[in-house]
Amino acid sequence: MPEYASLAELCHAALSCTACDLSKHRTQVVPGEGAARTDVMFIGEGPGYHEDQQGRPFVGPAGKLLDELIASIGMTRADVYIANMVKCRPPGNRDPSPAEVEACGHWLDGQIEHIDPKIIVTLGRHSLAKFLPGETITRVHGKARKVDGRIVLPVHHPAAALYQQSLRGTLEEDFRQIPQLLQQMEQVPEPEPKPKQLGLF
Ligand code: URA
Repeated sequence: MPEYASLAELCHAALSCTACDLSKHRTQVVPGEGAARTDVMFIGEGPGYHEDQQGRPFVGPAGKLLDELIASIGMTRADVYIANMVKCRPPGNRDPSPAEVEACGHWLDGQIEHIDPKIIVTLGRHSLAKFLPGETITRVHGKARKVDGRIVLPVHHPAAALYQQSLRGTLEEDFRQIPQLLQQMEQVPEPEPKPKQLGLF
């Protein structure tokens, strides 16, 4: 049973979270945004300066690139859901600590439960670690895996491509798999219904 009756209720509750010290430094909580039910969910690291100011995920330069990548597969933000590992900005854009990720985890788990995506696209190493602990992004980017019944597609964080131009092509190539993976999934047949047992006369 989900803890909150709807995704909207969950996101509303997250707005007043004080479970960790990130709450002391934030301007606003950034729960996430997009379609309440969708096949495709993106999970980044945590809000940066622009996100903290606006209360929306991926609205800075990395977000602009993410929008372009989403458009490149024929979708818009409204078609997908975008969330982060932590919902409040770590001061100075430092990495979130394991304790902060842990404290925030139930919000993300609840979001996944409500949205019920077929594919989770992990953006960068922090969300990769949630689904495929011990893997490195360089080794597994673009390699989809089934985790708990969902496809997890690890890709580089869009911000990395802003610093390293050559990653942009890699990201575009990895994104191209998303529609293919969705289609392949839909082709997977449902298990055959078991034939009804005939009663003995
Ligand atoms: N980087 C992230 O990981 N998430 C955002 O929302 C913005 C930048």
